[in-house]
Amino acid sequence: MKRAIVSCLVAGFLAFFSMEGSSLEPPQKDDVKELMRSKLQHSQKVLEALVTNDFDALAKHADELVILSKKAEWKVLNNPKYELYSNDFRRNAEALIQNAKAKNTDGAALAYVDLTLSCVKCHKHVREVRMVRQNPRVEPAPASFEFASRTRSP
Ligand code: HEC
Repeated sequence: MKRAIVSCLVAGFLAFFSMEGSSLEPPQKDDVKELMRSKLQHSQKVLEALVTNDFDALAKHADELVILSKKAEWKVLNNPKYELYSNDFRRNAEALIQNAKAKNTDGAALAYVDLTLSCVKCHKHVREVRMVRQNPRVEPAPASFEFASRTRSP
């Protein structure tokens, strides 16, 4: 009986520690999805604030975007380009905050356009990486191609 209790305790401990261990694993898919969803919502709120000249809301939602970009779930890929696009995104969101504080609508509008471009560029990169993973013979387009292919496609 005593033995049974001891082995129960041991099993319990093992289960507890293996559960603990899982929290150190890479971000879970659902957490990533949730983060990406709230990224979309805050960026939509940024547009709303921009067109209604609501500088407080603009600064608030741009700040949320900066915070999101620093979370572990943000780092879906671990490569220099993804890092570059993440930094661009954060810099543009920070420019939005500064322009909101300065009540500069034109500056904020430009920062919003840059921010949106950084969304599109990063998503394009993510798609290319996935394509290469699925088919190792497909090479991602060289960096110099990016602009040309974007302007040419409909
Ligand atoms: C540095 C890279 C990067 C930037 C910048 C970026 N995203 Fe994403 N986004 C991702 C990744 C990675 C995913 C997850 C893709 C997947 O796993 O399918 C994603 C997913 C999404 C999704 C899909 C969420 C779902 O339902 O699954 C939306 C919508 C989205 N992003 C919007 C945006 C918007 C809007 C911006 C700009 C304001 C933006 N993203 C900027 C990398 C980025």
